[in-house]
Order: sequence, then structure tokens, then C-alpha cells
Amino acid sequence: MNWPLARPWWVVFRVGMATSVMCFFSCSSHDTKFQQYFSQGQSLYEKHCSNCHQKNGEGLKRLYPPLANSDFFKKNLPASICIMKYGIAGEMEVNGVKFNKPMPGVPSLTELELAEIATYIANAWGSEDSRITIEQVTEALKNCKTP
Ligand code: HEC
Repeated sequence: MNWPLARPWWVVFRVGMATSVMCFFSCSSHDTKFQQYFSQGQSLYEKHCSNCHQKNGEGLKRLYPPLANSDFFKKNLPASICIMKYGIAGEMEVNGVKFNKPMPGVPSLTELELAEIATYIANAWGSEDSRITIEQVTEALKNCKTP
């Protein structure tokens, strides 16, 4: 018996094809939905946040903390989502620098918009993470302590 399927080159071809098809759907975090979230997130960020945190995410001196490579954002995604919607007051430390100035939230932001902004922050300015989903935002908002 000499089934074509058993020929080594055919096996290699089929395995290769299967892997690339699977990769197309799951390997890349930069799929179409990611791109949509990222670019929507960018325009929302520039509208609502960049006045203070700056377009390049670096913040402003000791007044406004950075979001680019912020250890606070990386460690506290749920709290960061709450901050975007409800604001925050009181002392906080970001990348070793203390800040203490109230930030007004933007309560009109929807869960989708919050996910888009968070996706943008998590992936802009040299950082690379996955897409932040609406489910993550819903979960985060359940536990917000409003200032
Ligand atoms: C009026 C200025 C202002 C605007 C507008 C603003 N922020 Fe802030 N943000 C601040 C200040 C000030 C703090 C520090 C708060 C404190 O000291 O308690 C802060 C803190 C943060 C933090 C936590 C600390 C960090 O740097 O990781 C995040 C996350 C954040 N802001 C995200 C956003 C996002 C996203 C938007 C837009 C939806 C936004 N901010 C709009 C001023 C602002």
C-alpha cells in the first residue's frame, strides 16, 4: 500500500498548511479586531487623556503621571480602568515618582471604549500586550471604589 497521505513530503505539506491556518487565527495578537481597538483607542486617548498624560504617554513632570511603561498600569489594570471612568484622588506612585493631584474621570466612556483605550495604552509607546476585552472591563468595573 502506498497511500499518498503517507508520503513524507505530503505530510510535511499538510502539517505546514495546518499550522499556518491555525496561526492565522490565533498566533497573532494583532488581528483585525486588535487593530480596530488600537486605532479607536488612540483617537479616544487623544480626545480624553492626552491633554494631561501627553500624546507620547510620558505625562508631565510631577503633575501628570506617565502611562507609557507605567508600572502602575501594568500591575493594576482593573484599578486603571476604574480610574479612567471614575477618576481618582490621593497620593499614588508611578515608576518611583509620587503624584498627588485629583484626576477627573470620564463617566460617559462605554465598556467598549474603555477596552479600546486600555488596549491602546497597553500596546502603544513600545509596550506590547494582548487586546483588553470588554469582559475584562465589565469585571473591573464591578469592583471599583469610587473616590
Ligand atoms: C485633567 C488631567 C487628566 C486627564 C484628562 C486624565 N488624567 Fe489620568 N491622571 C491624572 C493625574 C493627575 C493622575 C494621578 C492621580 C493621583 O495623583 O491620585 C492620573 C492617573 C492616571 C492613571 C494611574 C497612574 C498611571 O500613570 O498609570 C491612569 C491609568 C490614568 N490616569 C489614565 C488616564 C486615561 C486613560 C485618561 C483618559 C480617559 C486620563 N487618565 C485622563 C490626570 C489626568
